Amino acid sequence: MARKLKRIAILTGGGDCPGINAVIRAVAKKAIVEHDATVIGIEDGYEGLVKGRHRRLHYDDVSGILTLGGTILGTSNTANPYRYPVRTRRGLQFRDMSAVALDNARQLDMDCLVCIGGDGTLDTASRLSREGVAIVGIPKTIDNDLRGTDVTFGFDSAVHIATEGIDRLHSTAQSHHRVMVVEVMGRNAGWIALHSGVAGGGDIILIPEIPYDADVVADKVKERNRRGKRFSIVVVAEGAKPRGGDVVIQRIVKKSTDPVRLGGIGFVLAAQIEKITSIETRAVVMGHLQRGGSPTPYDRILATRLGTTAVDMVRDRQLGQMVGVKGDSLVGVPLEEVARGPRTVPPDHPLIRAARAIGTCFGD
Ligand code: F6P
Repeated sequence: MARKLKRIAILTGGGDCPGINAVIRAVAKKAIVEHDATVIGIEDGYEGLVKGRHRRLHYDDVSGILTLGGTILGTSNTANPYRYPVRTRRGLQFRDMSAVALDNARQLDMDCLVCIGGDGTLDTASRLSREGVAIVGIPKTIDNDLRGTDVTFGFDSAVHIATEGIDRLHSTAQSHHRVMVVEVMGRNAGWIALHSGVAGGGDIILIPEIPYDADVVADKVKERNRRGKRFSIVVVAEGAKPRGGDVVIQRIVKKSTDPVRLGGIGFVLAAQIEKITSIETRAVVMGHLQRGGSPTPYDRILATRLGTTAVDMVRDRQLGQMVGVKGDSLVGVPLEEVARGPRTVPPDHPLIRAARAIGTCFGD
């Protein structure tokens, strides 16, 4: 007889993204329907694990959330148990609260903790797993920058939103003969810019993996003008940087283990393009719009597959692993492999080659 699970906990960490609730629903429903298990939701990511804040999730709690944005459990991208931020009279300090987190995990007496997160969350999951917590990870991030998986859920939704933004900006660019610079998210990886740029017909796509030259960008705009195309669309990743230069930082979140928040390159670049070309250039930052709202059908399906497979991995004691997408299959990938740093866009990626073949400029 197949092994039955008794108790499973779910935690969502890092930035929110479309599809998290669809994963929570898939994990919880399968655990309840197939195993009659008790499902516990940890609140606000690792903050809830450190503070012992959790609640039971009944079938009805996870019903009707497939299309809902955000996470019904809440999240935190600063509550790393190994470097936990605490406000003291002497200012912000960091404490190792991992012993408390481990103790709380033990008290939950669960078959497994399912951690839904990006690199930060899964890096912590990897450490907790090495210290004895039974963990299965699920790859979540709009950035699509996780190792060990072809794709993360949330990425398709973000690309969809960014592409719609680019489509809409074409109207003003065309009517007013302007250059529109669209800044998209992605941290130090250019996946969102590349995919939305190609899907939205961007004339120039700038990604962190290919440092750009502002003069090359301006030349492309001028060349288009000479050919009668009196507008241009530039899609720039927030982590893009000029050759020999650096990224633009929007803010430093001191509490965060990864404190740098990128943003603002769109405005810098727009000013440069306008100065060199004398063509009116405006910048739009897509920002957190890319993380909000309902997941695409692709992400809903992926979320459902990832969540249900995670429960099978718990049943089969494939612990300390993340569910990774490899072609058409879902496979277990050791969490250590995932924690080995971001997966960026190879500069010779087939989509870059295809875009170059139709005349798209990458600023190099
Ligand atoms: O990792 C997802 C992401 O949206 C990145 O694309 C972006 O750089 C970052 O999170 C923004 O983080 P925050 O919401 O903390 O500003």
